[in-house]
Amino acid sequence: MLALLVGALIAVGVAVVLDHFVPRRPPLGATYPDASLPIESRVENLLSYMTLEEKIGQMTLVEKGSISPYDSERYMVGAILSGSGAHPENNTPEGWRTMIGAYQKSAARTRLSIPLFYGADAGHGQGNIPGATVFPHNLGLAAAHDAQLIERIAAATALESRAVGINWLFAPTLDLPRDIRWGRVYETFGDNPQVAAALGAAYVRGTTPHGVLSTAKHFVGMGSMTWGSSTSDTPTYRIDQGKAPADEAALREEYLPPFRAAVDAGALSVMAGLSTWGEEKIAASSYLLTDVLKGELGFNGFVVSDWYGVYEVATSTYDSMVMSVNAGVDMVMLPYDYDIFAREMKRAVERGDISKERVDDAVRRILRAKFSIGLFDKPILPSLSVLGASEHRALAREAVQKSLVLLKNDTVLPISPSTQKIRVAGSAADNTGRQSGGWTLEWQGVEGNVVPGATSILESIKSRAGNTSVEYEANGIFVNKNVADVGIAIVGEKPYAEGWGDTPSPQLSEEDTIAIANLKKSVRTLVVIVIAGRPLIITNELPEWDAAVMAWLPGAEGRGVADALFGDVPFTATLPMLWPASLTQLPVVRGTTANRTLPLFARGFSFPK
Ligand code: BGC
Repeated sequence: MLALLVGALIAVGVAVVLDHFVPRRPPLGATYPDASLPIESRVENLLSYMTLEEKIGQMTLVEKGSISPYDSERYMVGAILSGSGAHPENNTPEGWRTMIGAYQKSAARTRLSIPLFYGADAGHGQGNIPGATVFPHNLGLAAAHDAQLIERIAAATALESRAVGINWLFAPTLDLPRDIRWGRVYETFGDNPQVAAALGAAYVRGTTPHGVLSTAKHFVGMGSMTWGSSTSDTPTYRIDQGKAPADEAALREEYLPPFRAAVDAGALSVMAGLSTWGEEKIAASSYLLTDVLKGELGFNGFVVSDWYGVYEVATSTYDSMVMSVNAGVDMVMLPYDYDIFAREMKRAVERGDISKERVDDAVRRILRAKFSIGLFDKPILPSLSVLGASEHRALAREAVQKSLVLLKNDTVLPISPSTQKIRVAGSAADNTGRQSGGWTLEWQGVEGNVVPGATSILESIKSRAGNTSVEYEANGIFVNKNVADVGIAIVGEKPYAEGWGDTPSPQLSEEDTIAIANLKKSVRTLVVIVIAGRPLIITNELPEWDAAVMAWLPGAEGRGVADALFGDVPFTATLPMLWPASLTQLPVVRGTTANRTLPLFARGFSFPK
């Protein structure tokens, strides 16, 4: 009986301890838990207690689907990530907290109780979590040219991420696109290095005060790859993960400035890209990672490799790992085989292929970032209440309003209050998945009205139209043959991400072209709203339209589009990149088309008021 009672008491005690992430008692005399000490002294103190195995653990980043909390404790893993779309079985905010909490409890049980980084992408809010605020993707935000806006969005994203335990964001993207055929154009802040620098730095400034680490990515030269040069095995990849010429002038004038600005703003994590610079994979380039980034730019945070990137360097996993770590990768996004990594890293250090000093340097950088965001000092799981908060949704709506670029307007917009009837058509009219794009709930995004809490553009038009009648047919064919005053075609790209979005022909789909033609037959004036992750080739279609708006990938707040259509707010955004008239103008280098002919619209364009 007594034994049972003691057993029960121990069980309760353990449960309480686990539930509160209580760290183990630190080694006698250790000072690193003391939050009043300078970060550098805490780092050195903790490092002095660590075994080689513990140090290797800190350099390990594993995808959550590949590792249990039990093994994460056994291998003393330093960081876990959810690849985009990798959610817990119970895919609710609570389910996320429980999942991440279980890994943090494992970390608390290790000898030194070093808390984990839990990383996830956050290109447009914390789009992984059902119910989180989904902001416009970066290219639209860049059209707003408003660093303050980005800083506020980054802060909201940090708060919503941390509410479920995500304390490390794989954002902002600082790549500079040159070719609209690339599937990652919408993740960027456009092709102007100064704009990317200002907005990227604003993002970094926005996250840090909220105990969340941002990641400037993808170092470096991403966007300058040549069409057809992809080294990926996936056939749809044509330019993503491709080869960029090792152009030193382009590196210094275009590709480095955004990273320099992010580092100066306090970025403590930089992701090495999956592309090739000249003949060298970025993850193996000690010139780029160590000489330029850590040396010249004075970056004292850590370099994390991208998904499996380290293993694309050489033919054997051992050689790949040795080359990348020696080149300057500090934490390896494996993302799978942590046991092989632990074994091979140990062997490499024992054989002298990787020096103990290099390991210490890597771990020092990782711990510095952990201390800097208060990971040892702040609650692991703060309150959930900020997730999808109404003020964040209002901010997203404001961001949509400020991102819409008016391309053409033959006196149609704003829609007059005397309008009797509006007809709406197009594949993106009633589709919150499409308006949110890739990296929303799933890596490749979702189709249909399935984004929790989102408002479609059709719904927004209906609720703003008041007494004006609004009819909708996706294909633009209306049974009633009376002509309406205004037709609004909302057309655009299916969601995609990374190389799955590489396409030889960025243009409107046949389905949308037909819907526009159908709608045009039954309306007096036609407005076309383009929902897309990049400028599309619309040179032949544009003369047929009375007004055109580029809405990019606006995210969950379709209401922001209706606000501008009805004149509640003005159109203020300008193009963040050049809009080509034809594919023969690609690639666009420093704002100039390849064949030096005039684009459809220059960078900075918006329809004159
Ligand atoms: C992408 C990164 C992303 C990572 C983790 C990779 O495929 O290139 O941008 O952060 O996956 O999801």
